[in-house]
Amino acid sequence: MKLVIATRNAHKLEEIRAIFDFQSLEVCTAFDFPDIPDVVEDGETLEANAIKKAVTLAKATGCWTLADDSGLEVAALGGAPGVYSARYAGEHCNYADNNAKLLDELSGKENRSACFRTVIALSDPEGNVQTLDGSCPGTIIEALRGSNGFGYDPLFIPTGYTETFAQLDSEIKNRISHRANALQKAHDEWSSLLGSMGGMT
Ligand code: IMP
Repeated sequence: MKLVIATRNAHKLEEIRAIFDFQSLEVCTAFDFPDIPDVVEDGETLEANAIKKAVTLAKATGCWTLADDSGLEVAALGGAPGVYSARYAGEHCNYADNNAKLLDELSGKENRSACFRTVIALSDPEGNVQTLDGSCPGTIIEALRGSNGFGYDPLFIPTGYTETFAQLDSEIKNRISHRANALQKAHDEWSSLLGSMGGMT
């Protein structure tokens, strides 16, 4: 039995494998289906994008498919950048551009609270889909700190810590992050479902 993970991001795949023990399930990724076009992530919510990715790949491959979508929600910005986190500073922007824009938008604002959020969707081959989410609350600081991780990590201090995600050891981030949180829930809630397809603990 095959399970497709709808990502071309090796780092994400590693995180998923670290939490799930797939036993006899054969795990494939979008890389194993080169003829399937990239899914355009044009949904207005993280849920919509995760569902679109999972259902599109599940129907195209005929396999159960797991997909995720993440973003940073900043309270003082009404939840922005949220679903637009990857391209906050424009279509061809990079992480540095996004961080600069975030600092700019928050300049002079007292409320610096924020939350990373991940939605995971699991679809069967017919497109019947279910979702769950994970989050990690924290605050946005005023200047970049640290060089680990990616994206908004140098500006985000998770609640209960004094260092940013980019300063903390990756082992800690992978234990407390929004993605880890969502994956752990997925493991707890969907293990028996996936297990009945071929074995997973
Ligand atoms: P994706 O859906 O996981 O690809 O995430 C979309 C965007 O959200 C990324 O391009 C990053 O800008 C941001 N993001 C998601 N997860 C993280 C994280 O763990 N640290 C920092 N930024 C993140």
